[in-house]
Amino acid sequence: MAPPAPRRAFNDVVTRFWSFAAPAYDAQYLQHLVYRPAQDELIAALRAHRPARVADIACGTGILADRIERELQPEAVYGVDMSDGMLKAARERSPKVQWLTGPAEQLPFDDGALDAVVTSSAFHFFNQPAAVREFYRVLAPGGMAAVTAMSPRLPDPLKQLSGIRWNPAQQPTPSEMHALFTDAGFTVADQHRVKRPAWTLLVSDLITVGVKPSS
Ligand SMILES: C[S@@+](CC[C@H](N)C(=O)[O-])C[C@H]1O[C@@H](n2cnc3c(N)ncnc32)[C@H](O)[C@@H]1O
Repeated sequence: MAPPAPRRAFNDVVTRFWSFAAPAYDAQYLQHLVYRPAQDELIAALRAHRPARVADIACGTGILADRIERELQPEAVYGVDMSDGMLKAARERSPKVQWLTGPAEQLPFDDGALDAVVTSSAFHFFNQPAAVREFYRVLAPGGMAAVTAMSPRLPDPLKQLSGIRWNPAQQPTPSEMHALFTDAGFTVADQHRVKRPAWTLLVSDLITVGVKPSS
């Protein structure tokens, strides 16, 4: 089933931007400061769960999927992205990861085909309820989904008191993130802030780990 038209137009814009940005994306300072801490958290979550079949959704140039393959050596690792430019760089990075094209909301996997799904620094681009439901669909019972996402530090009660509703960048609060997971059927096993140096407090992201119940 094709995604609805407005979503397809948005996805086209996102895809074009990231194909254009792919050559700059791997700059060491950018990776080290912005992307690496979230990827470290996902590697730790995977290490604890020990899945056999893992997919990194919105894998970009493939840095995390390649790390998963080399550091954890599961049976199969997939990297999925919508952007041809990012996937071209990913294919050059590793012949061992299986690179696939597709949107997070319509993944190229059968029901129950995976044991873990992770995604890092891309959740704000997704149709979030649709993507989390899709993660649930492609996981086998007992499978794990781990998402790192930008999330405001303002506590929920303060947010309610202040009446702030403006959220153009789709940054869910911890409780909104929790609800996205439980609404899709997951049990939330862990949720905490990504550990970063104090001076990077402006980058405030959260890891949420959900497990698909076994029965
Ligand atoms: C900031 S990069 C993050 C890449 C990688 N996850 C990382 O941590 O380095 C965002 C990526 O999300 C991809 N993306 C955005 N929306 C997507 C969607 N709905 N489905 C699949 N990929 C998407 C873009 O093509 C881009 O490669």
